[in-house]
Amino acid sequence: MIYDVIVVGSGIAGLMAAIEAKDENNKVALISKSNVFKSNSSMASGGINAVLDINNTDEINKHIQDTFNSAKGLGNKKAITYMCKQASTIIEKLIEYGVDFDRDENNKILQRPFGGGSSNRTCYVGDKTGSAITLSLIKKARTIGITFLPNNFILNLAKYQDRVSGVVSLNKETSQVMIYSSKSVVLAGGGYAGIYRGYSTNAPDYTGDLLAVALRAGLCLKDMEFVQFHPTGFVKTNYLVTEAARGEGGYLVNSEGNRFIDELETRDKVARAILKEQLEGKKVFIDLRHLGLEKIQQKLPSLYNAALMQSGVELSKELLEIKPVAHYTMGGVDVNMTESDLKGLFICGEMASNGVHGANRLGGNSLLEGCVFGKLAGNKAKEFSKEFEYAPIDYNTVIKDIEMIDFIFSSDTSKNFNAIRISLGKCLFEKAGIIKNEKSLTLAFDYIKYLRQISYTLHCINKEKNNNVELTAILELRNALEISEAIILSAQKRCESRGAHYREDYPETLKKFDKSFVVKELKKGFFKISFKENDLVKKIKNLFINKE
Ligand code: SIN
Repeated sequence: MIYDVIVVGSGIAGLMAAIEAKDENNKVALISKSNVFKSNSSMASGGINAVLDINNTDEINKHIQDTFNSAKGLGNKKAITYMCKQASTIIEKLIEYGVDFDRDENNKILQRPFGGGSSNRTCYVGDKTGSAITLSLIKKARTIGITFLPNNFILNLAKYQDRVSGVVSLNKETSQVMIYSSKSVVLAGGGYAGIYRGYSTNAPDYTGDLLAVALRAGLCLKDMEFVQFHPTGFVKTNYLVTEAARGEGGYLVNSEGNRFIDELETRDKVARAILKEQLEGKKVFIDLRHLGLEKIQQKLPSLYNAALMQSGVELSKELLEIKPVAHYTMGGVDVNMTESDLKGLFICGEMASNGVHGANRLGGNSLLEGCVFGKLAGNKAKEFSKEFEYAPIDYNTVIKDIEMIDFIFSSDTSKNFNAIRISLGKCLFEKAGIIKNEKSLTLAFDYIKYLRQISYTLHCINKEKNNNVELTAILELRNALEISEAIILSAQKRCESRGAHYREDYPETLKKFDKSFVVKELKKGFFKISFKENDLVKKIKNLFINKE
């Protein structure tokens, strides 16, 4: 199947990219691993940051500065400035696509405070902002003729020399390996917080699959040690208690009834403060009682219902127990704005590391980043597809993928791979989570190396080809383990504390670590980790490589 542009990922970044890439003459496909509506974007409830008046340079500069401060020395000024300046245009576009932001009696868009923000700039649709935006973008994408290809699990990129030529995917309904050829590709497959299974707001299948695909294609992963823990998730189900709950005035209290942190501090600080209380044996709760039933139901209706249904807690009368949960990953494929090292391949959204978030992301900036860089990636991919013809597909790599799937079906296994995934999540949370040290990281590394060996011996017990969930589970586990190794290697190397990365054996932030680490796969199973070269050194090296 042939398309001008293929976009992978149906979150906000992917949808925005597909919409921008489409015109009346070209063919654009949007590939997703499962149902189109299922993405982390649709679960990001609290809001999207934007200074609405494009001429208010003081406020835009404050947004830039807050984002830069939160990145703790690893922010990219160009990317941050671009994002904050684009914000009002993005909100206008979203309104045009049908997003109905909450407004006051004068029809002015309402904006709530979010952690780490020096102004109230988070626009919202109650507490379902992400799903409201996702729905409107899906509707828009459908009306302009984008082809949706759900239930496709991307196995690898198709490449020809230094160019992307399409994607190789597993059709989950038939277990057949498919090739989609295209002139350009946008990857927008989300992050890897789901690897912390049992301790994450993400669905368990957010295993960083496309980051593993990028690694195998020779690209570098950057800032992988920076995993953001959202301070407030339901204790039993990990359901997200949106930051809007604190933005609207909610308190955090411990089991002694004391508040112990400014609720609107950045997420890294609030999450650590909560964990500290818990390690001292106290429970932690969110207290919304003083807001009153009417306000809770008006501003936080989804949370109100979820608390009632999942925990039996009536928020206007009772406290809700919470815990910090892995929510977002700042690390991703190293890109310049959206451009990767492979020609014709553009990367955006949570899986890209463009330096907008650095060591820590501001709440409300993820939906904005997804929209802004999704739009840019879609435009770049469209331009590329107009300028260049299709590149050939290297069938050797496709054959390897077919053989790999046949191998997984070829025999039986005695291992319970779902149990392995659960134990991986627990290991990461306990040893490479909110607080880490050399010993815990070494233990996690050894365990992951052991699991990686096992993962290559796994087979499906059920041999049915249609909708075989075991097959996908095995592939996800392998990807999750590759990404886990990249997280741990990076965390081991960063012998300091910065943003979301906290090492109790190195609690200070050190100047010598004012740089990102990048991870590259040298050969299967062997990673190299190094400081990211600055662009000048990279350019000079490329000059020599091109001359040889
Ligand atoms: C939330 O509503 O707290 C999630 C939104 C975000 O992560 O920015």
